Amino acid sequence: MYTLDVNVARTESHSPLWVDRGLIEKLPELISPSKYSSFVVVADAGASKAKDRVCAALSVPPTRVLSLTGGESQKNVNELIHLWEFFAEQKLDRKSLVITVGGGATSDLVGFAAGTYMRGVAFLHVPSTLLAQVDASIGGKAGINFHGIKNLIGSIAQPVGVVIDIDALETLPEREIRSGFAEVVKHGLISDRAYFDKVTARDCMRWTPDEMVEIVHRSCEIKKAIVECDETEQGPRKALNFGHSIGHAIESFALAHGPALTHGEAISIGMYGEAYISYRVGKLSLADLTTIDTGLTAAGLPTRLLKSIPAGELRALISKDKKNVGGQVKWTLLERIGSAVFDVVISEDVIGESLAAIQPGATHPC
Ligand code: GLY
Repeated sequence: MYTLDVNVARTESHSPLWVDRGLIEKLPELISPSKYSSFVVVADAGASKAKDRVCAALSVPPTRVLSLTGGESQKNVNELIHLWEFFAEQKLDRKSLVITVGGGATSDLVGFAAGTYMRGVAFLHVPSTLLAQVDASIGGKAGINFHGIKNLIGSIAQPVGVVIDIDALETLPEREIRSGFAEVVKHGLISDRAYFDKVTARDCMRWTPDEMVEIVHRSCEIKKAIVECDETEQGPRKALNFGHSIGHAIESFALAHGPALTHGEAISIGMYGEAYISYRVGKLSLADLTTIDTGLTAAGLPTRLLKSIPAGELRALISKDKKNVGGQVKWTLLERIGSAVFDVVISEDVIGESLAAIQPGATHPC
């Protein structure tokens, strides 16, 4: 079992993060249940097996379990009210523990609801998707979507712990594994060349559960280090946004117009687009850009859109990104595989070229 402590200076919080197989059954040893006055479990529909395991491990009765649909559409004000009402009905107090079981949309929504209820009730994440295990459950970001913009309302509050049980991925659909793997590859791209080479050496569906323990652990180490030095995203945490300016625009367009794309598919294409920008502005070598294109493809992730999206639509969505400052898009780019730079402003021409580079069938520069 790997244990990492996520130590955040601002709030003097120390959140343990555990990674292994079969960890849910060890919950009573990991979280010292006697510290808490009561537990409630909030789980999404995709995590029913993990939820049953959590309830069995901590003897949580069905009356103290709330089920959510899961997915981005649940991240709204009405669901937030629903959760606060559930917490009130369950008579949570300042010593209660809210346990989230599910994907990133569930840890985002429930973490925000718990973090604001009674000015903050403790919450523990048991992520059941790869995306939540390597990204959403670490670092305390929580929130809901508002006015069509992802995570526009939210907070940063650290969970009391994160229990990453790789066996929870057993029932995850292949497309969701691939989606989470895009964030794994991103961790290599922004901070560890050797890790990028390792995780792009084969199709991501071919890693065994034991190998996934190692991979998820390394991703968590990378994210932990970034969060610890910049919890509130004033600087280095922006590296985690690599691929997300173009990726979020693709994701928003696909959500509104189809065909459906997972977060990771959109981010993978976004990473190629933003690596292309990095190359075009002279920061990234052509050799590295080529390695990123072939590496993402070898891992079984897309680098071009399957169906064309008009560049004008993508530009409009990029300009609405909440990461923009003073009307300017601040880009996170690569200076080489394994090292990111942030807050870069680039010309409209280069953005246009990168949006052409991700269209279906676009050829790689030579
Ligand atoms: N998902 C990016 C971050 O936590 O900063």
